[in-house]
Amino acid sequence: KPMRLWGGRFEGGPADALTRLSVSVQFDWRLAPYDLLASRAHARVLHRAGLLTDDELQRMLAALDDLDRACRTGEFRPTVADEDVHTALERGLLERLGSLGGKLRAGRSRNDQVATDLRLYLRDHVRTIVSRLVELETALISQAEENAEVAAPGMTHLQHAQPVSFGHQLLAHVHPLSRDVDRLRDWDRRAAVSPLGSGALAGSSLPLDPAAVAAELGFDAPAPNSMDAVADRDFAAEFLFCAALIGVHISRLGEEIVLWASQEFRWIEVDDAYSTGSSIMPQKKNPDVAELARGKSGRLIGSLMSLLTTLKGLPLTYNRDLQEDKEPVFDAVDTLLLVLPAVSGMVSTMRVNRAKLEASAPDGFALATDLAELLVRRGVAFRDAHEAVGHLVVWCQVNDKDLGDLTDDELAKVSPHFAPSEGPGGTPGVRDVLNVHGALAARSAFGGTAPDRVRDQIVSLREIVDGQ
Ligand code: ARG
Repeated sequence: KPMRLWGGRFEGGPADALTRLSVSVQFDWRLAPYDLLASRAHARVLHRAGLLTDDELQRMLAALDDLDRACRTGEFRPTVADEDVHTALERGLLERLGSLGGKLRAGRSRNDQVATDLRLYLRDHVRTIVSRLVELETALISQAEENAEVAAPGMTHLQHAQPVSFGHQLLAHVHPLSRDVDRLRDWDRRAAVSPLGSGALAGSSLPLDPAAVAAELGFDAPAPNSMDAVADRDFAAEFLFCAALIGVHISRLGEEIVLWASQEFRWIEVDDAYSTGSSIMPQKKNPDVAELARGKSGRLIGSLMSLLTTLKGLPLTYNRDLQEDKEPVFDAVDTLLLVLPAVSGMVSTMRVNRAKLEASAPDGFALATDLAELLVRRGVAFRDAHEAVGHLVVWCQVNDKDLGDLTDDELAKVSPHFAPSEGPGGTPGVRDVLNVHGALAARSAFGGTAPDRVRDQIVSLREIVDGQ
């Protein structure tokens, strides 16, 4: 007969269909180490309340340690008859202690227990996720450092816009990840609240000490409202938002890598170790890691939606719907821990085709803005400068020329603003500004793409990442 944590007031057993619907141990078993941590703290608080003798506490703690060991070695496993992780562990405790095992449940409910376990689990795993994010940031920064001087086509609307330092573009993917780390750290501040002591919903009539339990489990404080404590899953939803946004960030990076690795771009080559082949086309080398990074964002966003939809409209306090909080959370944790190391490896091993980037940087009349800004420095209104350069671009297209190929006569014919082509008294002239590296260096204000500023950015990002 399966051991249940309830049943005294029931006649006969539950229907098979109910049991199958209700059981969660196949996915919540991963909470076992955290449930055992919380159980140790709870045993101590029962002892301090005079509800366990010294000897009972020692036997209880020894049994919990032994159960922990047996869980880790796989010697103790949940069975299909265990409704959830809490049921399985109570069975393990009873097997070791007999009736003494039944004392641990005093003053505690699975409602405050499961909320505590999930917070402990997430706070622990978020630390690992942060480390994986830092590795990805570090991989991107190293590539940026090697490519700070490399000019690349900068794009808006996926059209050539203005040349940029390729390092600058790589660093543009670091900042979102750095904000993600910051968000997770901030998340932890709100997650560090302990529900234990809230019982089913109203607290306990036993003289427990929620503050001591909170401190023992590494929380900052006990929950100030027992009803909120067992009903609240904000910490899970907020985590899933952070996870979904990380997914969005690596998806955008993944999309760029897919483009950059294509025949049309040829900006980078993904290392063989991070590429896959085709079962039919012998020549193929596909950037699957980047595509999976892009694809996995879908399930991360889905997990967030799933939990928010579960929570919406739930009355206080605990409702069994809340059991649906765990799979999206676990899936998001697993997904991030799977995808982040692969993306980091792909980024740190990719080879940058500098010659191709440099050659493409001025394509698509990407220096047109520099020319317009030269006219502005000569006193022309930007509106007129914009118009004049626009005409020049059309003239070049019609005559199949590049901005840099134009003679002084041709320039003067399109607009008197371009004459003289030389700048007076050593100031820059038309041909001086039609220079990719000059265009990069000129964007030297804070946050700009000048290689000097990119190097400053690397220094400050490294400082930030070191502190993460
Ligand atoms: N397994 C449940 C969950 O994950 C915890 C048990 C609470 N069950 C209950 N009937 N109060 O939410």
